[in-house]
Amino acid sequence: ETMRSFLKALPKCEHHVHLEGTLEPELLFSLAKRNNITLPDHFPKSKAELTERYNNFSDLQDFLNFYYIGCAVLLSEDDFFDLAWSYFERVAVNDGLAHSEAFFDPQSHTERGIDISVVIKGFKRACVKAEKELGISTKLIMCLLRHLPNEHGLQTIDQAKEFIVNGDIHALGLDSAEKPFPPELFAECYAKVKELNPEINLTAHGGEEGDHTYVSNSLDLLKTTRVDHGVNSVQSEELLKRLSEERVLLSVCPMSNIKLQVFQNIHEIPLNTFLEFDVPFSLNSDDPAYFGGYILDNYVAVHENFGFKLPVWEKIVKNSIHGSWCHQERKDEML
Ligand code: ADE
Ligand code: ZN
Repeated sequence: ETMRSFLKALPKCEHHVHLEGTLEPELLFSLAKRNNITLPDHFPKSKAELTERYNNFSDLQDFLNFYYIGCAVLLSEDDFFDLAWSYFERVAVNDGLAHSEAFFDPQSHTERGIDISVVIKGFKRACVKAEKELGISTKLIMCLLRHLPNEHGLQTIDQAKEFIVNGDIHALGLDSAEKPFPPELFAECYAKVKELNPEINLTAHGGEEGDHTYVSNSLDLLKTTRVDHGVNSVQSEELLKRLSEERVLLSVCPMSNIKLQVFQNIHEIPLNTFLEFDVPFSLNSDDPAYFGGYILDNYVAVHENFGFKLPVWEKIVKNSIHGSWCHQERKDEML
């Protein structure tokens, strides 16, 4: 308990959380009802049954099948606002979060006929309110779904153009089923976004189920300056040295890695190797409503399994702040 309060008090930054992945079973069922959405026949009927099913994902795809069904209960701008606001409020109050860079997946909504501006305006309104009322800083990262074709990504970028240009979308990311969809398939999308706004930041999921080349190719071919997950970087010593030299942050998600069976135990996650090679990483929740823990739970789980001493926690927290995409003044406040 004292450890939890110590970890809560650290100025934590989250770089890897999918807003759609913060949809708690309770909100899922209540939005389904409010919006008259019929869930599939095989979908668990109660909160308890659903939570139990969430405890037994066999891999990334098994989880994603549930995640996209969950997305389908979100329709109105208020739905998107309510979702993001409940996440921001929860982590600011319970977890001591200082800064949140949150992903969203517009294609999982536009494919259902929802206008992209409905999605972005709802999320943005929650960001503004969170900054004002909770004192946390926030950024939105638009992700493209890699199981959809490049052309669909380009269309999405076109639909989101005004928000890419005005900075409401602070960065571009890439998520969903990793393995048969290597980063190079989306090089055109990444170049296009950078052309629309040269200031925009770039990241991509890589090295979660894919091998180390998914990490290096994200850097080389998509020009990302961060990689999400990236745990399979340990397969290449050359890559580890590069990540350290170029100060590329890996957004590691410990509880997610266990729930999706990337590793069987938290202590198998290569945090000690990253520390040894001085590869910067942050600790994150990924899809907290699905994996049974928010950011502080992830910090606690790492502490319980690695027993890091104060200087290591200081290093993790400082690397997380330095690797954040906020102004230097905001970093100075957090440091
Ligand atoms: N979408 C939501 N969470 C994800 C993850 N961990 N990997 C890939 N796509 C995702
Ligand atoms: Zn993720």
